Amino acid sequence: MMTATKVKERSLLGMKELAESEITQLLDRTAYWDHQSEKLTPVLRAHFVANMFFENSTRTRFSFEMAEKRLGVQVLNFTAAASSVEKGESIYDTVRTLESMGIDAGVVRLKPAGVLQQLAEKVGVPLINAGDGNNEHPTQALLDLYTMRKHFGGLKGLKVSIIGDIMHSRVARSNLWALTKMGASVQFCAPANMQAPELAAYAPYVSMEEALKADVVMMLRVQLERHASGIILSAEQYREHFGLTEERASRLDPATIIMHPAPVNRNVEIDDAVVESSQSRIFPQMANGVPVRMAVMERALQ
Ligand code: CP
Repeated sequence: MMTATKVKERSLLGMKELAESEITQLLDRTAYWDHQSEKLTPVLRAHFVANMFFENSTRTRFSFEMAEKRLGVQVLNFTAAASSVEKGESIYDTVRTLESMGIDAGVVRLKPAGVLQQLAEKVGVPLINAGDGNNEHPTQALLDLYTMRKHFGGLKGLKVSIIGDIMHSRVARSNLWALTKMGASVQFCAPANMQAPELAAYAPYVSMEEALKADVVMMLRVQLERHASGIILSAEQYREHFGLTEERASRLDPATIIMHPAPVNRNVEIDDAVVESSQSRIFPQMANGVPVRMAVMERALQ
């Protein structure tokens, strides 16, 4: 049985807890996997990993699976809708069940924030956070950092604008913790009712005009499901005030890159033509998710 210290060292719950050296090691190892031409390197074939998604996902779920399969990991895919969670079984009992069957690590996505931390204290295998509420999404931040480092050659001194629903965004939080540790500066731009006041001490809120003057313009998904409750502006009003329209994109410095974690609401937070423009790195971000998650799985299992 693995010691509690080892389990903690191999888990990845958030970027807040990682040191700069650990982030650099993960990015270096990502570069190693990114440059491997062999699709299959089954160095982890004796290991079993359960991907436990209690909330929907396309990118994170499939790029973890792709990363695990490229390393030869024996993959168990758990989806809440097709499990005993539907009969009321708790998240804790579900994870303990899979642990008792012999998994070596678990990848977990959850709706509530804070539960993963408690879970990690109770189980004896490393857990990887695949997104928990509005708390953290560490592998998304790692793939974002890797995308920036690959493009600019480094992260120190970069100015990154994160635009959109900061309050509900785990992507904004993980990027803030990671980028500032790596010597980049972060600024936020958001409608007043989507700001997270507790983060203002770490990154200033700026106007849309100011936010466009950056090395990286990272747009966040508008959570359209919040429209019904009247929390946000209409999609049209949002686009007008906070969207990366073709007109705004045309005013970016040609060296600026455009990012978005996706899924994208085309013509709401970002115009259709901008998504696949020459300055966009949205699809390369998705591609980079695979080598990032290979590096994270290696750290968890070796
Ligand atoms: N970026 C991201 O986390 O996408 P999914 O919700 O599809 O995993």
